[in-house]
Amino acid sequence: MTEPYRVVALPGEGIGPEVVDASLKVLVYLAKLEGFSLVIDYALIGQPAFNEFGKFFPDQTAKLCEGADGILFGAVTRGGILELRQHFDFFINFRPVRPFETLLDKSSLQSHKIQGADILFVRELVSGIYFGPSGRTEDDSGYYGFHTMKYYDWQIRRIAKVALGKAKERRGLLTVAHKENALPQIPWSRLVQEEAEHFPDVIVEPMLVDNLAMQLVREPKRFDVILAGNLFGDILSDIGGALVGSIGLLPSASLNERGFGLYEAIHGTAPDIAGKGIANPLGTMGAVVLMLQQWGETHAAIKLIQAIEKVLALGYRTADLAPQGQEILVNAETLTELIVQQLGS
Ligand code: NAI
Ligand code: MG
Repeated sequence: MTEPYRVVALPGEGIGPEVVDASLKVLVYLAKLEGFSLVIDYALIGQPAFNEFGKFFPDQTAKLCEGADGILFGAVTRGGILELRQHFDFFINFRPVRPFETLLDKSSLQSHKIQGADILFVRELVSGIYFGPSGRTEDDSGYYGFHTMKYYDWQIRRIAKVALGKAKERRGLLTVAHKENALPQIPWSRLVQEEAEHFPDVIVEPMLVDNLAMQLVREPKRFDVILAGNLFGDILSDIGGALVGSIGLLPSASLNERGFGLYEAIHGTAPDIAGKGIANPLGTMGAVVLMLQQWGETHAAIKLIQAIEKVLALGYRTADLAPQGQEILVNAETLTELIVQQLGS
């Protein structure tokens, strides 16, 4: 028997626990089918951790995550996630955006504009304005607040290498989000272009981030890999939710240099629907797919994707996908059971 994979589950708050539970059910079943074993440890993060330990990302949680094979994360409202990302230096954030063929009509765009789109966002995750010096104070003009966008060149270069590597494996186009007309001291374009000398097959296309946002909506299929800093990547990737039909569908993987990773959906705690059992768990299940791929459990990953696609093809939809006509409205629990059944069949 091979060593079990150890997963740390950090459900967090809001719909976090709902989508993590659903995804773990599927993962546990899949492990049985595929013959690998799993150990799942639970830990607190966010508000529940603060209530218990006075810290959003307590030392106990950090310890438990150390040496694990992956972290499956739900969502938090205020604190915990930035500390977690920084603690393990999860500087690489992959956010694939690909519509399900059966959900093309759920896109905010016409189906033909989104059909075949395949975008990979590569977002820098442990630096930039979310981590720079910040504060509130006052001077002669009054009270003011500040957050600083600070990037070391090496931080841009290391994420650029990752994005270039991905573009090379894919269709060879790397679009770089930047705002150098207003923020010229952080030269994303030049640094990425310098790194690109080692990747002669990749075309680097710098694009001002405001234009990029518009082009994403106008013509999503023109993009391959999009590299962005922390702030721009956060904002741009939510557009992906509108492209594929629901933000509840989109997964993400955050990795460090060693390939150790944190897997989560890109959405937040969704307080408007929390506790109702109606949250779409497919984003987090997509994150499980990314974790399996990272482990090299390719067969299991394909099985899970196929089971999800089959259940969607049969017409089952959570409420965020606004089922119509022949489509069948289900809650998260039923959707999860259907996926488990599909896996077993
Ligand atoms: P959100 O992503 O939580 O929700 C935006 C909208 O999408 C809401 O209408 C929500 O109901 C819907 N939605 C999100 N996920 C869904 C799912 N799985 N199924 C169905 N509908 C879904 O973003 P919002 O409302 O801006 O933020 C809420 C809280 O989440 C905030 O406190 C924010 O700080 C936090 N947040 C946490 C993140 C994390 O933990 N990684 C990421 C983004 C936000
Ligand atoms: Mg976000």
